[in-house]
Amino acid sequence: METLMPDWTEYELVDSGAGKKLERFGEFTLIRPEPQAKWEMILPAQRWETADGEFVKATSSQRGEWRFRKPLPARWTMQRKNLKFLVQPAPSGHVGLFPDQACHWDWVEARTKRAARPLKVLCLFGHTGLATLAAAATGAEVTHVDASRKAVTLARENQCLSGLQKQPIRWIVEDAMTFVRREARRGSRYDAILLDPPRFGRGPDGEIWKLEESLLELLSACRKILNETPVFILLNVYSTVLTQGRIEKEAEGLRSVLKKMLEGFQARTTAGELAIEDAGRRRISSSVFARVEF
Ligand SMILES: C[S@@+](CC[C@H](N)C(=O)[O-])C[C@H]1O[C@@H](n2cnc3c(N)ncnc32)[C@H](O)[C@@H]1O
Repeated sequence: METLMPDWTEYELVDSGAGKKLERFGEFTLIRPEPQAKWEMILPAQRWETADGEFVKATSSQRGEWRFRKPLPARWTMQRKNLKFLVQPAPSGHVGLFPDQACHWDWVEARTKRAARPLKVLCLFGHTGLATLAAAATGAEVTHVDASRKAVTLARENQCLSGLQKQPIRWIVEDAMTFVRREARRGSRYDAILLDPPRFGRGPDGEIWKLEESLLELLSACRKILNETPVFILLNVYSTVLTQGRIEKEAEGLRSVLKKMLEGFQARTTAGELAIEDAGRRRISSSVFARVEF
């Protein structure tokens, strides 16, 4: 199993410890809860105190909230390679991007570039669109599906910021399972599929997504919309406090469900973990993934 860590200058996990992480997103630093950081902070308290804002965890009597130490813009722009995108602290504590995923953007870009033809890519649970944009930037025709209208609106803004407004991207706000089933009925086909499902989620009409119960069904529907000569599949799942102790088993589990889905195809399947290291080289693991190349 491989552990992949992103390489970029605008984002940095500056320090971690005491159940928190100190991250730099471009020109601003933010503190967020991090249950894995059971160790001590390395940097002095004064450095942490210079953070521009902190997301304070919910308690039994209070919702989680951002506390800013100085007036910050509601959102700001960051860049990685050719992609430009917005960072926007949200009431959930998320900021509109998952920095660890940069490893996947690079992989998607390289696979799309290497293909001998323009690819038709489906990005399910695409959130703010950075995997979609990585594929579109190299000439793929991408269909992006997410249940959240807010996330899709941000993704479209990221498309414009990145100067990719002319690229053929279909933005769809819909339940992923409903969309894939309909595509199968219509006879639509894709060369590559990216899936980044949450453990639990809801479609825009209240459709329930439960990873343990829904994943096999979704993969079997995805099998029906795969081209006869597909190019790649990427399945990523966020790890939780509960799954952290068994990352290797989780990654292997994803690899074996993909292998099963693709019986009859000649394919190479690998699995691994995405993680981020702080300046003290303490590693925070974020998700497990399986990748297929045909
Ligand atoms: C873990 S995030 C994806 C993160 C993304 N890969 C990124 O790097 O920005 C999961 C996404 O799934 C979406 N989602 C949850 N339930 C869904 C459903 N039933 N159908 C479609 N999208 C759903 C959420 O709105 C959210 O944007």
